[in-house]
Amino acid sequence: MTTPPDIRFEPLSLDDIAGAEGRVAVFVAPDGTLGQPARRVNRLTRGALERAVDSARFADLPVGAGFDLAFPTGMQADAVQVVKLDRRASDDAARRAGAAIAAPRGTRPLLVLAGALPQAPQIALGLALRDYAFTDHKSPSDSDEERGAPGPVRIMANRPDDMALAASGNAARAEGVFLTRDLVNAPANVLTTTAFADRLAEMREIGLEVEVLDEPELEKLGMRTLLAVGQGSANPSKVVVMRWNGGGDAAPLALVGKGVIFDTGGISIKPAMGMEEMTADMGGAGVVSGVMRTLALRKAKANVVGLVGLVENMPDAAAMRPGDVIRSMKGDTIEVINTDAEGRLVLADVLWYAQERFAPAAMVDLATLTGAVIVGLGHEKAAVFSTDDGLADAFLKAAATECEGAWRLPLDSAYEKALKSRVADMRNSAGRAAGAITAAHFLKRFVRDTVPWMHLDIAGVALPPEPGRFAPKGATGWGVLALDRLVADRYEG
Ligand code: BES
Ligand code: MN
Ligand code: ZN
Repeated sequence: MTTPPDIRFEPLSLDDIAGAEGRVAVFVAPDGTLGQPARRVNRLTRGALERAVDSARFADLPVGAGFDLAFPTGMQADAVQVVKLDRRASDDAARRAGAAIAAPRGTRPLLVLAGALPQAPQIALGLALRDYAFTDHKSPSDSDEERGAPGPVRIMANRPDDMALAASGNAARAEGVFLTRDLVNAPANVLTTTAFADRLAEMREIGLEVEVLDEPELEKLGMRTLLAVGQGSANPSKVVVMRWNGGGDAAPLALVGKGVIFDTGGISIKPAMGMEEMTADMGGAGVVSGVMRTLALRKAKANVVGLVGLVENMPDAAAMRPGDVIRSMKGDTIEVINTDAEGRLVLADVLWYAQERFAPAAMVDLATLTGAVIVGLGHEKAAVFSTDDGLADAFLKAAATECEGAWRLPLDSAYEKALKSRVADMRNSAGRAAGAITAAHFLKRFVRDTVPWMHLDIAGVALPPEPGRFAPKGATGWGVLALDRLVADRYEG
C-alpha cells in the first residue's frame, strides 16, 4: 500500500529558511508581488528571486505552475521552486500548485512557504495526491537505498493550526485515491480475483463490514451472467460487499464496480497491441474500493454499500462463446454477440443483487466499460449517464469541485432498440454506433425504475496514456474524490 506523505503545518519561521535541506517552494503573485517569505528568500539569494520574477519565464508561467532556481547561493536547499499563485487564486489553481511542487521532489525533504495564503489546505491536497509512485515491482537501485524513505513535507503558514484543521480530511481522501491507484496499477498475475478480495477483506481493520461471496454462493444466487464471464479463467469469480454504516437506519447509497482483473476479450479476443492495459479493467471496482476506504477513514455519517464483481475474461475450452444465451439473476436472457462486451454482463448481476438486497436510496456504478467513450470524450472526462437529473447534477457539481472531468451523455429510449436480440431478451453488443450509450442502456435494464441510478464510464480516465495533473503516468484514482464529495453533499447530515 502506497501511503500518502505526512504533511505538517508549522508556524512561519523566517530564520529557518536558509538552513532548510532538500527543496523549498515559495509563492509569488502573478503581478510579481513578493510576500514575507518570498522577500526573505530574495534577500538570502541576493536578489535571485526578484530577477527570476522579472524574467519572461515567470511572465509566461500559468497560475499554479512553477520553475526551479537550482542550488541557490545563501541557502542550504538544492532548489528553490518559484510558484505563481496568490490569495485570489482558485482552489483548482492551488491544488495544481501543490501538484507542481510534489512532482519534482522524489524523496527529498520539502519546505513549502505558504505564509499568508488561505489556500494552504488545497495546496496540501494537490501535493499529497501528486506525491505518488507505484514502485511495488521495481527493484531498489543503489541511489534509492542511499536516499532512503521520503523526507518530510513541512508547510509553513501564518495560521498553522487553522490550516491543519481545514486540511484534516486530506489524508483520508488521499489514502482512498492511493488505494484505487495501487489496485489499478497492479498487474493481473499479482492482483488476482482472490488477492483483490483479500485486500478488501483487510479493510475490516478500519471498520468496514466486508463479505466475500464465492462461486458456489454466486451460483446459488443465480448470477449466471457474471459467472459466465469468469468461466474461462483459472481464477475464481467473486463478489465482494463492503458496508460502511455511519448513517443510522437511512437506506444506503450503493456503489457498484466492474472488476475485470484482466480482459483478453475472451473468445472474441482483442488484438495484441495495447492489450496489457486491460490489467486496469477493474478500474470501477478500484474506485469503489477507494471510496469505501475514504468513507471509513473519515468516519462518514452516511450508509454506503460498495459491491464489486471480480472476474477474469479469458479464452479457454470452458469459456463462454459468441452465440451463447445466458439467464441473468434478474431472469432476463442475454444473447452473447461478443464475449468482449463482458463488463455489462458482470454489472447486470451485481446491480440487480445490490438493488434487491439493499433497497438502496440510489445506485451508482463505475466501469471501464467501452472503447467508444474514449472516442467520444478522450481521457479528460468520464461519461455520466443517469435516470435522475438531481443525482446527475449533484455529481457533476461534486466532480467540478474536485477537478475531476465528467460529462453527461444522453440515455434517450430511442437508443435502446439496438439491444434487440433474435433469440433472447436482449443482446450484449449493439454494434459501433453510440457504443457507450447502448452499453449504458444495457445496464439500465437491470435497475428498477424506482431507483435513482447513475452510470459512470471511466474507460478513458482510469489509466490515461499521459501523466495527469494530480497523478504521475498510470492510474489516476479518478472519481474517488468526486464520489466522496457526493456522499458528503447529499447523504450526510
Ligand atoms: N474493457 C473494455 C473497454 C475498454 C477499452 C476499457 C479500452 C479501457 C480501454 C470492454 O470490456 C470492451 O472490450 N468493450 C468493447 C465492447 C464492444 C465489444 C461492444 C469495446 O468497447 O470495444
Ligand atoms: Mn471487453
Ligand atoms: Zn472489459
